[in-house]
Order: sequence, then C-alpha cells, then structure tokens
Amino acid sequence: SVEPPRPLIVKEAEPDVDDGKKKVTILFGTQTGTAEGFAKALAEEAKARYEKTVFKVIDLDDYGVDDDEYEEKLKKESIALFFLATYGDGEPTDNAARFYKWFTEGKEKEMGFNNLQFGVFGLGNRQYEHFNKVAKVVDEILVAQGGKCLVPVGLGDDDQCIEDDFTAWRELLWPELDLLLRDEDGATSVATPYTAAVPEYRVVFHEPANGLVDSKNLISTNGHAVHDIQHPCRANVAVRRELHTPASDRSCIHLEFDISGTGLVYETGDHVGVFCENSIENVEEAERLLGYSPDTFFSLHTDKEDGTPLSGSSLPPPFPSPCRSACLAAHASDQSEADKLKFLASPAGKDEYAQWVVASQRSLLEIMAAFPSVKPPLGVFFAAVAPRLQPRYYSISSSHRIVPSRIHVTCALVYEKTSTGRIHKGVCSTWMKYAVPLEESSDCSWAPIYVRQSNFKLPADTSVPVIMIGPGTGLAPFRGFLQERFALKEAGADLGPAILFFGCRNRRMDYIYEEELDGFVKAGALSELVVAFSREGPNKEYVQHKMMEKASDIWTMISQGAYVYVCGDAKGMAKDVHRTLHTIVQEQGSLDSSKTESFVKNLQMDGRYLRDVW
Ligand code: 2AM
Repeated sequence: SVEPPRPLIVKEAEPDVDDGKKKVTILFGTQTGTAEGFAKALAEEAKARYEKTVFKVIDLDDYGVDDDEYEEKLKKESIALFFLATYGDGEPTDNAARFYKWFTEGKEKEMGFNNLQFGVFGLGNRQYEHFNKVAKVVDEILVAQGGKCLVPVGLGDDDQCIEDDFTAWRELLWPELDLLLRDEDGATSVATPYTAAVPEYRVVFHEPANGLVDSKNLISTNGHAVHDIQHPCRANVAVRRELHTPASDRSCIHLEFDISGTGLVYETGDHVGVFCENSIENVEEAERLLGYSPDTFFSLHTDKEDGTPLSGSSLPPPFPSPCRSACLAAHASDQSEADKLKFLASPAGKDEYAQWVVASQRSLLEIMAAFPSVKPPLGVFFAAVAPRLQPRYYSISSSHRIVPSRIHVTCALVYEKTSTGRIHKGVCSTWMKYAVPLEESSDCSWAPIYVRQSNFKLPADTSVPVIMIGPGTGLAPFRGFLQERFALKEAGADLGPAILFFGCRNRRMDYIYEEELDGFVKAGALSELVVAFSREGPNKEYVQHKMMEKASDIWTMISQGAYVYVCGDAKGMAKDVHRTLHTIVQEQGSLDSSKTESFVKNLQMDGRYLRDVW
C-alpha cells in the first residue's frame, strides 16, 4: 500500500498582462492545507460563474519578496479575497507570517487601499482565546486603510463544521461579486449551479516483484537543502521510552529522532512537525472496505500516461466534508445507500450530517462500513475521499546545545472512546507508542519530519529571571529550556533565577522526568521546582493554585524583568493561568482592573509573556 503522492505545489508564473479582463486575487495563509483548499475551491467555482474574470490563487509567501512588493501589489488590486488561518496563541500560519508582520506593523502609516474591495474568511477554533484573530485583524486594518469590505469577515470554526461556515460565507459573497463581475449584457450564467469536477489520480498497478515494494524506498532522502512542510526529511527513531509508571492507566512517550547527517537543525523552543503512518489496522480495514487484498501494489500519478497533467488537479482539503458523501454516493451500487449519502451531502441533510458524522466523530472508515456497497476506485478514494494525513506538531523537549543531533518529543497517547463506541486512537501518538527505536532494531521506525521555528525562546540575556508554567506534556519545551540553561551555566554564563510550575495527577504515576528535574535543581539550572498533584489529596491542586501561593515571589521576579512562559492545554489550563496572572499582578501590584489589564497586555507586547499552547 503505497502512500498517495504528496500535494504538488505548482507555482505558475502568470504574467500580469492587462488584457482588459477583471481580476480577482485570492490569497491564502495555510498551515495544514485547509485554507488553501478553500481558496482553490472558491476559485474553481468563481471561474465557472464569471467566465470573463481572471482568478488567481496565491500563497501569501509568494505574493511579494519584501514589504515594498506587498504594498505595491496590494495597492494595485481591485478585488482581493483572503483565506487566513489562525493557530496556537493567535498567530498567523508560517506562510502568512511575513505578510502579517508587515501588515500589522504598517498599520500606523497611510497605506491607502482606497481602490480595494475585499473579503476575509478566517479559519480558527472557537475553543481558543484568540479565535480567528489573524482574519479579524487583517479585516480591521483593511477597513481602516480605506478598503471596502464586501462581506463581513467569515469566522470559520473548526470545532464545529468549518465547511458549513465556508459555505455560508460564500453565499454572502456571490451577490456582491455578481454586482462587480456580472457581464454588461447580463450574460453571466449565475443560475447554473457549479459542480466541481471530482479529482482523480491515475492508478498504475504493479507486480510485487517489479521493484516497487515499499513506500519506504521512495522517499528515503529528498535531496532538499531546506526542510519545510513540503520537503520533510526522513529521521530515524533512536530512542523510545514510556514516561508513566505501570501504576498509570495512561501513556506518555519520550521519543528521540536522530537528525545527524540530515541537514535538519533546530533551536531550543522550536516545534517539530511529524508525518506519521496510518496504523496497520486502519490500512487493513481500508483494504477490506475498498475490496483489495493486502498484496495489491499500485502507484498514484497526477499526470496522464503521456506526461501531461490531469485536469482538476486541485487536491482535496484535508478534512472530511459533506462533499465526500456526495463522492461516495457516486460509487454506491445499492440505490438506497446512494440516496442516503446524497441526502447527507445536501443542504436538507445538513443537520443529520452534523449529528451523525461530525458530533459522533465518525471516521471515514466507519462511514464506509455503514454503506457497504460503496466501492470508490482507488484513484478517486485517494484524491477525493480520504483526507490527507497532516503533520502533527510537538514542542521539542530537548536543547540543541545539549543534543544537536537529536530531536526529543514528549507525547501523551490519545486514546478515547467516541460516542459510537469506537476507540479513537490518535494517529501519531499511537505510532509513537509502538515505534521501534534504533536501540532495539536496525530496522527501526522512521518518519518524515521538519522543524517549525517558534518565538518561544529563553531571554537573550541569561541573567533575566524566568517563570515557567507547564503541567502535563506542557513540560516539554521547559525540559529543553532547562537543558539549555544547564549548558549555559557549564559555559560560565551568569544565570538569573528560574522557577518551574509543573502539574500532574499523582507523583507515583505521571510525574514525568522527575529525576531530571531534580538534577536541574541540583545543578543550579532551576532555582525552584513547584509541583501540583491534582489527584493525590481530596482537593484538586493545579499549577495556578501553586502560583497563588508563590504570588509575591512571582511579582518580585516580574518586577525584575522576568519572562513568563506558559505551555500546554489552551482550552482549560492556559485560560485559568492567564486569569491567575491577572490576579497576582492586581493584588501584588495594588493595581485597579484596567491597569492590570494593560500591564499584562504590555508584558505580552514586550514579548515577556509567551505561550506555546494547543
Ligand atoms: P486533572 O486531570 O486531575 O484534572 C496535567 O494534565 C495536569 O493538568 C493534570 O494534573 C490535570 O489535572 C491538570 N489540569 C486539568 N485541568 C487543568 C486546568 N484547567 N488548569 C490547570 N491544570 C489542569
């Protein structure tokens, strides 16, 4: 079972010729491909509706080489649509970071987008504090700079059905575009509903003896000097060990990727993106449902036999959507199954889809199992039905100063029962749990990985005090920080005080890296270690309770210029810690609530309150 080709990013050099045609530029800031998928889907549909208009879809990183080009180009646009994802702590995606920095920093000056008519669709998750921040900020600045907003900013919510949010926003956009792009003679066929061509890979079946045996041989090296999301690099698993004790009913894995000789480099505080494989049980279930035997060997191609590209080459977005139901319906041999799938994909079936698929967390394979007559061809299955596996991101838990040739990951196993009774096993955490390390076998596990830089970094001045708050696997980057401080101390640096707040359930079960943390205290890399155990006593003790006990120490350190770092769960912990920080500042600094608010805001603006949350 060969994995599908990675999405090809085809950068078309399109000359800016003035042929009198109206132009619409669609810009996207994407991390996992969803925003890109929406941008392309919109463009395809728009091209069919407005045949005389040119629609260009552009990656924000490719839009301009520098700030001046961004400004010059944006000023020339008459209609621009933005698809902007927000992730982490209200940050833009990697490919939008440069644009966002220029755009937000330039907001004080007069950029004058008076000719620009625009629309912004955001991709975010309502569970997070900075829900769709990037889209909202871009929308506001565009208005402030004279742009005319065609539709209210779309707030796509990944926690619900973001596809629906996109559809709703699009329905608001069409009437506006009709007014702007409709032919003078009214000839635009707006009444014709657009149906996207279903993309399909060309499939070639092989004899197993033909040399094409295993995907592992295909991408062992990728020859790229720079490793990024499009060009990850193979890294072997050198070490894997369980961090919880046998008394725990959960699992947390310490994993080390060997990056020696790969050209991959990282810095303490960066993230690693891991492309793991599906589990064998999922692959076998897919084989069974699709009707293929495990010894089927095939390759997928994005070109025709003569080498020319296949049409409809835009790849599917990496998330399940009602469109998939429509696609499955086309390949159901049982009419009642086909009707039911078509209904799920239709506006009338929206609620049922939301309930039966989204709320019940039904996986693609569960849906297929419920419709046994559905047998899509492999080329359709991989191009239009199966969501592309996305990289999973982890805060690197080592320091390049101590282990430059290893990337350490600290990963909690995701293992939950869904409402359908299925056990949901996290793809990557399960892979890590069963990964075979090089220390056990020369035929070890490996994965394509790449390093994503972050601004979660220790202060450049080593004497500045440091406050770290990281319960559970939120400890990961702080283990890296402490390794770094240890290395700096060894090299003779003058270290400021550092306090770490760690939290777990029970000292005997999930107190990860306990010995190492004690070692950092002994070595002077950590001045104080404060641990909250939530399930030892009758009451829940959380890191924020411990912070309150240490309120005056925290305030003293902040007054001395301390950096405050929070890592871990965004939905509960980071919100509560954020509130606690306010309380400490307010009480210890005797400030009123608005002064407290601006004090914490300033800490954030100065880069002294940093969060790595998920
Ligand atoms: P609990 O599971 O007993 O509720 C690491 O996951 C630790 O974080 C656990 O001890 C967990 O406690 C705790 N935790 C859960 N919710 C939290 C919150 N809102 N704030 C701080 N810690 C929390």
